[in-house]
Amino acid sequence: MKGVKLKIYGLLFVLLMVVSCKKEVVKTTDIATQKANDLLAKMTLEEKIGQLNLRGTSSRQKTLPNELKQAVREGKVGAFLNVMKTEYVDELQKIAIEESPNKIPLIFARDVIHGFKTIFPIPLGLAASWDADITEKSSRVAAIEASSVGIRWTFAPMLDIARDSRWGRIAESPGEDPYLASKLGEAYVKGFQGDSLNDPTSMLACAKHFIGYGAAIGGRDYNTAIINKELMQNVYLPPFKAAFKAGSQTVMTSFNETNGIPASGDKKLLQEILRKQLNFDGFVVSDWNSVTEMIPHGFAKDEKHAAELGLNAGLNMEMTSKSYEHHIKELLSEGKISESQLNNLVVEILKVKFRMGLFENSGRNSKASKLYAKEHLALAKEAAIKSSVLLKNDKSILPLVKKTKIAVVGPLANKPREQLGTWTFDGEGQHSVTPIKAFENNNTNFSFTEGLSYSRDKSEVQFKKTIQNAKNSDVIVFIGGEEAILSGEAHSRANIDLPGAQEKLLKELSKTGKPIILVIMAGRPITLTNIINNVDAVLMTWHPGTMGGEAIYEMLFGIQEPSGRLPVTWPKTVGQLPLFYNHKNTGRPVIPEKFVQMDSIPVGAWQSSLGNTSHYLDVGFTPHFPFGYGLGYTSYMYSNLQVSTQKLTNTNQIKISVDVKNTGERDGEELVQLYVQDVVGSVTRPVKELKGFEKVKLKSGALKTVSFALTVDDLKYYNSNLKYGVEKGDFNLWVGNNASNGLRSGFSYE
Ligand code: BGC
Repeated sequence: MKGVKLKIYGLLFVLLMVVSCKKEVVKTTDIATQKANDLLAKMTLEEKIGQLNLRGTSSRQKTLPNELKQAVREGKVGAFLNVMKTEYVDELQKIAIEESPNKIPLIFARDVIHGFKTIFPIPLGLAASWDADITEKSSRVAAIEASSVGIRWTFAPMLDIARDSRWGRIAESPGEDPYLASKLGEAYVKGFQGDSLNDPTSMLACAKHFIGYGAAIGGRDYNTAIINKELMQNVYLPPFKAAFKAGSQTVMTSFNETNGIPASGDKKLLQEILRKQLNFDGFVVSDWNSVTEMIPHGFAKDEKHAAELGLNAGLNMEMTSKSYEHHIKELLSEGKISESQLNNLVVEILKVKFRMGLFENSGRNSKASKLYAKEHLALAKEAAIKSSVLLKNDKSILPLVKKTKIAVVGPLANKPREQLGTWTFDGEGQHSVTPIKAFENNNTNFSFTEGLSYSRDKSEVQFKKTIQNAKNSDVIVFIGGEEAILSGEAHSRANIDLPGAQEKLLKELSKTGKPIILVIMAGRPITLTNIINNVDAVLMTWHPGTMGGEAIYEMLFGIQEPSGRLPVTWPKTVGQLPLFYNHKNTGRPVIPEKFVQMDSIPVGAWQSSLGNTSHYLDVGFTPHFPFGYGLGYTSYMYSNLQVSTQKLTNTNQIKISVDVKNTGERDGEELVQLYVQDVVGSVTRPVKELKGFEKVKLKSGALKTVSFALTVDDLKYYNSNLKYGVEKGDFNLWVGNNASNGLRSGFSYE
């Protein structure tokens, strides 16, 4: 009896908590909206239009035109991007809050993508860490530094699923997998926005690019995306859903069209999917000129039509182009948009400004001294180590022993600016620790001959000297890859081999017989087929950021172990792209034993497709390195896969456990990955989907049982009727250390 009473009281308490928590949420939302509506009532039409205006200055423009100040004075600007000088930020904000008609504060935005001054690895690199904690911490640091100069809105995280390494912006992406991207998206938002939006060190996040930007045909930037409804729901939207759930208050429409409609004018996308399905409660910003770019897209006939399409779609704020400013009045008077539509668009922006506390405190956080703070640099080094993926390590050539005599070679060994990577407007090369600097700082036994002066360099003038240097050493450490400018926006490549004469130099160096360690700094996977056999080890560091050199030094000498794992499938050749592990099956799935390589086909063979599957005659069906792959400095054994029940129901949970043993001589960190396949669906399902991962630290010889739990919620997907749920049937599961291996088991859902 007592137990029952207690239970009832318990229940009542929980109910009360739920009700009062709900109230709390509603209350804060209401206050911001209410304040926004009150303010709206006092605003002139010009001011309303002004709030929809995101005015840009180019990142290279260092002066502040008077015309801009006047526009602010008249309430004609809602937000700014790329005001590069802090004094100008202060000056513009002062004008806005003291002189503009309703004293509405501005928001200052910038692309603070992977750090502000202290630069972290590029986002694709951070994704390789598979580490939400370091992702959150590094974006918190970015926010602390950027907010100190008045930037309270970043155009990040980029959450475009990217499956084609030709695409330059893969560098900025979370990789190819929606599950991993969702975890990282959530972490980025939490880090940027901090505990509370109205904390002066908080920076508004902007989930971008909505939607399908990473699915550009052929990896050509800005290009058409064709995404069916099911893939849209199951692959492209989930990271955005996660970012909104984590509180992202803004979202950016993408440049591209998806299925024939440019995102900035896609009413269905912005209203039905974004607002209704995903419950997005902030405001939508266009990409740079993406409203007026609907004209060359062939979707808007002129600037006025572009504005009409954007406004009717529900796009709140126009970045840089001025179609709203030029045409809203006319569109209103012609009844092409209504006053209440305009009011809604304005309120959605104002309420975010209220949530940010800008009306009470529009100034900067004054922690300017925190730029490049010691703890920021330490975190940047840790992130670079956690992001680096060891792809090859023959005969355990790595780690090196300290006294090894090293010939350091390569165009990126001492390029402070290049190691920062794409989207680093504010990063400063003079603060970078290059590998050469780190070797010097740590009294390493090395001599340096660059060999090539930049990554695309084709000149062989330095070869002789470089080879001589190599001959006098025990080991060659070649630090190459891509300069920062070879990836990022509008920097796609059709050939993703090492550029310039790097391959040639590597081949020449390999003739010395000295072991070669290839360290790659790049914005994307680099095809290595031509030179993989000429090198003994490959360490992919992406563009590692400010502390890249120190991180590389520590990894090469085993002070730290590279613990990154691939967030994208690494191709053998560009001809395989797009390439991703979670593809669908065909009616003729690959049968490895039956694969006949092109050179083994008899001359004059009779035309037949029999026995062949979905593969390439020349390179087969496997990538160079699978998704999830990466080596460490020790080895592991997986055993004893246990599944708690063979039958999943709506109420139970499947517990999956596996024993992982460090069988090597060094302590290490392993990324244990869980993949599931829904064998039959009303719409075909991927061959595998990542459903969980855990990093475990294991001492040499130690064994740990790693566990995962799955419920129906983890298996839900959008089926052929776009219904979200699970269908009855069988599931396979694998636990392993990349997408192409693992111990296998299964269960069914009834
Ligand atoms: C990019 C966006 C970026 C914006 C502002 C555009 O070219 O596509 O991602 O946020 O510029 O710099």
